[in-house]
Amino acid sequence: MALPVFFLAALFPLAALAANNWTVPCHAGECQWDLKSNHATGTMLLSGSNSSISDLTTAGGWTILDCNATAADQEIRAVCHDSSKCDHLNLNGAENTVVRLPNDCSSEPFAVVTRIWNHTDQSIPAGRRSLWKRRGGLQRSVQGITLSTNFAAANASQHGNITVVVSGSSMPGVILSQAAPGCEAASQACNTSSVSLSSRSSATTKSGSISLPDIAFDTNLFNASISCPQSGDVPAFNGTIVVDLQSNVTASLNYAVTYKTILFIPDLSSLTLTAGFDADLRGTLSLDADLTGGLTTGEVSLYSVGLPVLDFGSIFKLGPTFTIFAAADAVLDTKLEMDVDLAYTISGGQLVFPPSSSASGGLFSPGTSNIKLSASPNVTGNASLVAHLKPTVDFGVSILGHTSGIYLDLDASAELDLALTGAATGSVSAGTNGTSAEATGTGASGCVDISTGLAVDAGADVDLIIFKAGDDVTLFSKKFELFSKCFGVGNERRDSDLDRDYYRPRRALPGPSLSSFEEGWRTRKRHEGHNLSEAAAGRRRVAQKRDDGGLTCPTVLLGALVSIVEAAVDAAT
Ligand SMILES: *[C@@H]1O[C@H](CO)[C@@H](O)[C@H](O)[C@H]1NC(C)=O
Ligand SMILES: *[C@@H]1O[C@H](CO)[C@@H](O)[C@H](O)[C@H]1NC(C)=O
Ligand SMILES: *[C@@H]1O[C@H](CO)[C@@H](O)[C@H](O)[C@H]1NC(C)=O
Ligand SMILES: *[C@@H]1O[C@H](CO)[C@@H](O)[C@H](O)[C@H]1NC(C)=O
Ligand SMILES: *[C@@H]1O[C@H](CO)[C@@H](O)[C@H](O)[C@H]1NC(C)=O
Ligand SMILES: *[C@@H]1O[C@H](CO)[C@@H](O)[C@H](O)[C@H]1NC(C)=O
Ligand SMILES: *[C@@H]1O[C@H](CO)[C@@H](O)[C@H](O)[C@H]1NC(C)=O
Ligand SMILES: *[C@@H]1O[C@H](CO)[C@@H](O)[C@H](O)[C@H]1NC(C)=O
Ligand SMILES: *[C@@H]1O[C@H](CO)[C@@H](O)[C@H](O)[C@H]1NC(C)=O
Ligand SMILES: *[C@@H]1O[C@H](CO)[C@@H](O)[C@H](O)[C@H]1NC(C)=O
Ligand SMILES: *[C@@H]1O[C@H](CO)[C@@H](O)[C@H](O)[C@H]1NC(C)=O
Ligand SMILES: *[C@@H]1O[C@H](CO)[C@@H](O)[C@H](O)[C@H]1NC(C)=O
Repeated sequence: MALPVFFLAALFPLAALAANNWTVPCHAGECQWDLKSNHATGTMLLSGSNSSISDLTTAGGWTILDCNATAADQEIRAVCHDSSKCDHLNLNGAENTVVRLPNDCSSEPFAVVTRIWNHTDQSIPAGRRSLWKRRGGLQRSVQGITLSTNFAAANASQHGNITVVVSGSSMPGVILSQAAPGCEAASQACNTSSVSLSSRSSATTKSGSISLPDIAFDTNLFNASISCPQSGDVPAFNGTIVVDLQSNVTASLNYAVTYKTILFIPDLSSLTLTAGFDADLRGTLSLDADLTGGLTTGEVSLYSVGLPVLDFGSIFKLGPTFTIFAAADAVLDTKLEMDVDLAYTISGGQLVFPPSSSASGGLFSPGTSNIKLSASPNVTGNASLVAHLKPTVDFGVSILGHTSGIYLDLDASAELDLALTGAATGSVSAGTNGTSAEATGTGASGCVDISTGLAVDAGADVDLIIFKAGDDVTLFSKKFELFSKCFGVGNERRDSDLDRDYYRPRRALPGPSLSSFEEGWRTRKRHEGHNLSEAAAGRRRVAQKRDDGGLTCPTVLLGALVSIVEAAVDAAT
């Protein structure tokens, strides 16, 4: 599958600023911290008054004696080795000053000083003396310093507000090399909402896409059996209902994120996220049932993988997770066997959050779908089945202890509605090949409607008040009619919801055969605007429980299966 090729047209002009430089102290009211990994790049810039930001690294004149590299909030011991620099910490008071920390001394790049005192333990390990000895100055006393990452609790009036600007991307190197002109200092006029990903024909930034592993599943979504006792002329039998989903998913994704706010006031509404994605969804849904009743598999997670995290400590974290969900719901009162293919290709998919009308989109196309349906024709009954294959990317966001998430759902679904009016003497014989089936004898009739749908939705979890739950955006939603036909006599009956909106053949044929309805196949109106997404979104957040309590043994003889539909349908046409 081709990877999407994107680049950042306009992101923060951080290249114009001094990069994260461990030899230059953060003493001038600005401090930058860079994140680099094979899969992600990011930069965080703090800016405020001269006294609001200081530096506990070697460059800032400090030697840290005791610290815990894996802890965030902690007490450290530190000693000044260069009084020309370290005193900057005390400018206007050390408390409430945000300090840069060495990588090996904290899990956090920055913390706020809440307390500083002459430590009772004045010992300095011999190995740490070198720095201040070299300077020959008077030895300062060892300080105890309490560091906190509860920035929201800091007293901002002591040093004034600090602005934090974060930008990050799955595309290594992109941010620093694609500076936007005309925006000289991030602390001034930089417009965080101008981030955009735009398509580009060159292949130079291919490496920015995270290719999700190609995954093939053969998953049993539902499997229940009931031992049915003899009832009237129905002999005892072991009834089963099995729903399987075979699927292959390939996908690739890239993203860029920006965040700009006042450090002490977490504000998720100042976050922008742009994601580009390609995906190829193939699947075959199989249902095999000789029980009646309803079933709900609930949302089954087939596969889940965490993608590289943009980790700026407690100030900002973005952790995407890729999960493939599947779900099926069915209500059956006849014996049924069915296979329906799900086939979709998504290329150049683009999500922009917060939602803005035009920027999101992509090319979403259905492929050829094989459908097969067999049912028992001499029972009157309905069957309906909805199944979903739903790859999802969840961008989990954590800002100063508040968490939220922005999700992207690619919801491919298949839906079957079957309404049968059986007759004891009736039967439906399979058509010779392709799409046709013939009703023979008298009585057996019905309608079958098979469709697939694709809904691409994005939205935010509700956790943080600032994020409106209704900020959902549907990038794409469409239902594709694969097969829709009525057969047999008596299909004009209207007592079923399922066939209410069915196409009616213009001619009432005596002894009709399915082929006479062929003309109706594609002439039915497609279900435009069918709101798959609403259902999908609702379903997603309110996790449905697996439920098979509704299954019962049939009380009438279900009879043998006959093929009703066997066809390959190109939903795109
Ligand atoms: C860090 O700053 C020093 C002094 O300005 C400079 O010589 C050095 O090249 C800088 N290093 C990086 C990696 O920018
Ligand atoms: C902040 O520090 C810079 C560089 O050290 C200095 O030029 C500037 O005057 C200082 N500003 C204030 C308000 O102290
Ligand atoms: C360092 O901090 C981590 C996380 O808070 C903690 O589990 C660990 O015990 C600490 N190590 C020491 C030596 O205190
Ligand atoms: C810490 O000790 C030094 C002398 O070593 C003293 O001058 C200073 O006032 C003390 N600071 C505090 C906060 O007690
Ligand atoms: C910090 O910014 C907030 C929001 O703009 C403002 O309400 C507050 O007064 C500012 N605090 C200081 C100390 O400037
Ligand atoms: C916050 O800092 C200001 C200025 O230093 C001070 O007047 C005020 O009392 C402090 N507030 C608290 C709650 O400590
Ligand atoms: C930022 O850019 C967006 C889109 O380009 C624009 O609508 C908005 O007015 C800009 N905001 C500022 C503060 O310039
Ligand atoms: C369904 O479950 C039964 C027993 O639990 C098992 O023997 C059978 O293989 C399962 N069928 C499928 C298709 O998973
Ligand atoms: C149903 O299955 C059970 C266990 O596999 C078996 O003992 C029983 O004979 C079966 N009943 C029928 C009617 O096939
Ligand atoms: C999934 O891929 C495997 C191997 O490429 C193939 O054999 C299988 O038919 C595919 N399944 C579907 C449902 O496309
Ligand atoms: C359907 O047609 C294909 C090719 O025309 C043939 O290979 C296949 O055997 C036929 N199937 C049936 C059930 O007749
Ligand atoms: C329909 O049911 C009757 C008896 O109820 C049975 O004889 C007949 O074989 C059934 N037809 C099919 C196709 O199973």
